[in-house]
Amino acid sequence: MSVRFNGKYLNGFVREDEFSHIWPQVELAHKQLEDRSGPGSDFLGWVNLPRDYDREEFARIKAAAQKIISDTDVLIVIGIGGSYLGARAVIEAVGSIQYNSVCKATPQIFFAGNTISPNALNDLMVICEGKRVSVNVISKSGTTTEPAIAFRVFKKYLEERYGVEEARKRIYATTDARKGTLKELADAEGYESFVVPDDVGGRFSVLTAVGLLPIACAGIDIDALMAGAAAAADKLSVCDPTNDCYRYAAARNILYRRGYCVETLVSYEPNFTMMNEWFKQLYGESEGKDGKGLMPTSVINSTDLHSMGQFVQDGARIMFETVVDIKKPVRDFLVEADAENRDGLNFLAGMGLAEVNRKAMLGTILAHNDGGVPNIVLETESLGEYDLGYLIYFFERACAISGYLLGVNPFDQPGVESYKKNMFALLGKPGYEAQKAELEAKLG
Ligand code: PA5
Repeated sequence: MSVRFNGKYLNGFVREDEFSHIWPQVELAHKQLEDRSGPGSDFLGWVNLPRDYDREEFARIKAAAQKIISDTDVLIVIGIGGSYLGARAVIEAVGSIQYNSVCKATPQIFFAGNTISPNALNDLMVICEGKRVSVNVISKSGTTTEPAIAFRVFKKYLEERYGVEEARKRIYATTDARKGTLKELADAEGYESFVVPDDVGGRFSVLTAVGLLPIACAGIDIDALMAGAAAAADKLSVCDPTNDCYRYAAARNILYRRGYCVETLVSYEPNFTMMNEWFKQLYGESEGKDGKGLMPTSVINSTDLHSMGQFVQDGARIMFETVVDIKKPVRDFLVEADAENRDGLNFLAGMGLAEVNRKAMLGTILAHNDGGVPNIVLETESLGEYDLGYLIYFFERACAISGYLLGVNPFDQPGVESYKKNMFALLGKPGYEAQKAELEAKLG
């Protein structure tokens, strides 16, 4: 099965015939994706990636991961956006961050270059003290400011600590195959390098070396991850109204046209927090353009029912929820009977927390339905590697189909440039002099 679309909780919000009405548009979107006739078709490398990836590089990724595991206590992964979120999402989903930090024989993995905060960088420097450190710097363009700053710092740190030669053996670069500042630096220094394929955009790159090297360093089975994604690629590329991925894309588009302009991704597993973040980038950057798009938001329940729950139940009726229903927890936890029962919880005795969590989910879906919030449920077996690989591909493909249904190019991100230009101008980067004066006048 791996991901099943359950539309039961759309009853009363979406009629079944609306799926038939939108289906010809889904077929067109499918055709655009398959025959590469849609906008952004230079960036469709992710479509067949799980079936058709570079086996030689894959073997090098595994070998590099083994070396890092054997000689490293702390791996610093430098990157931002698509060069960051996927790896962190998978690492935290498959193991939990607490479990990995305490129990696993693999390096602790920390992420840098995804913020300009000096506090965050200072914290990492302290964490590295007395530990064996390696760095994986990831940037497709090789010029992104946030990771470039972090890499400048960690390159110097490793060189001072280990000497230039050993530092070079502890730095792994993932970047463009041919061009960019990072590529030039990696070649000049002789860093072991991995490739971000030209035809795979950052937010679709988790199943390339961008995600796979850090994920393998966490001891996660990348063969199973790719196998799950390959199974999804096989199953979900069949254009049929029973295609769960296409039903999901259709449902969110039908809801959007009905005025629900916010999609909240919901999980009941804290380990899913960074998957939520990955999802938000994938959908936000792909759809939010030309004045259109669903705004992706997320919650982790039941935690966030105690903060966002009031709004979802009772606030402005602008959102629908997509609940990722993960059937099996890694380890359940039994509630024991207590002879005194002073907390009144004996009605739960003998029950696993997985069951309690499930009842919280079902109760919440029904309550939110009553409050006027449509719910889509995506059912998946587990957060194991295979199922997660399937889920990742499911979301990627649904995102592409959704973008085409919306009439946008899901593979560009022109809006991301505006802040960069202003930041460079305000920082006095050469070439931005005119803008600097203009912006300073506005700031007063
Ligand atoms: O999805 C994207 O394209 C972006 O999020 C990029 O991945 C992000 O800006 C980082 O870019 P780069 O990998 O070139 O440093």
